[in-house]
Amino acid sequence: MRAYYFDNQPGDQRLPHDSSRAVDTETLNGLKVEAWNIPLTEGYEEKLNAVARERAYKNRDVITISKEGLGDQYEEKIKGFYEEHIHEDEEIRYILAGGGFFDVRQASTDTWIRIAVSAGDLLVVPAGIYHRFTVDEGNMAQAVRLFKDEPKWKAIYRGAESDANPHRIDYLKSVAAAA
Ligand code: LAC
Ligand code: NI
Repeated sequence: MRAYYFDNQPGDQRLPHDSSRAVDTETLNGLKVEAWNIPLTEGYEEKLNAVARERAYKNRDVITISKEGLGDQYEEKIKGFYEEHIHEDEEIRYILAGGGFFDVRQASTDTWIRIAVSAGDLLVVPAGIYHRFTVDEGNMAQAVRLFKDEPKWKAIYRGAESDANPHRIDYLKSVAAAA
């Protein structure tokens, strides 16, 4: 996992868009974004299960984003994931294969922080944070999606309504001191 400020340059979403300005773990944690790595070596399932148990992530599934799997819908699908949105629950992803970028908004500056993920990375994106996702130039990402109860996939796209969402307001309160 590596995090940096997005360069805001035009160009395909799948390019690194690396401004060369690194973002440290404390800054991410201040935004309530948590990231760690469980190497995909023997026994990783047990380690993942232990994290899931500890944090009460009771359910999971596996998503594969690839040209092969999605066919004609691929380009449209990845554009959809890249629309800025919030959720009313955490978004928890453990990357099994491929790679991509989670972009999260820094609350204090409204700038994008890009988090590059690859196999073994586990990322928790909190409820109420504006974010988006894209595969990288490898055009493939496979991830375990973990969730506490029923998945709340609904994306609430950025606008007046999402700004007023109680989960957004709670999020901003929770980061007010740190971010
Ligand atoms: C999701 C990613 C695209 O909501 O943020 O699954
Ligand atoms: Ni999302």
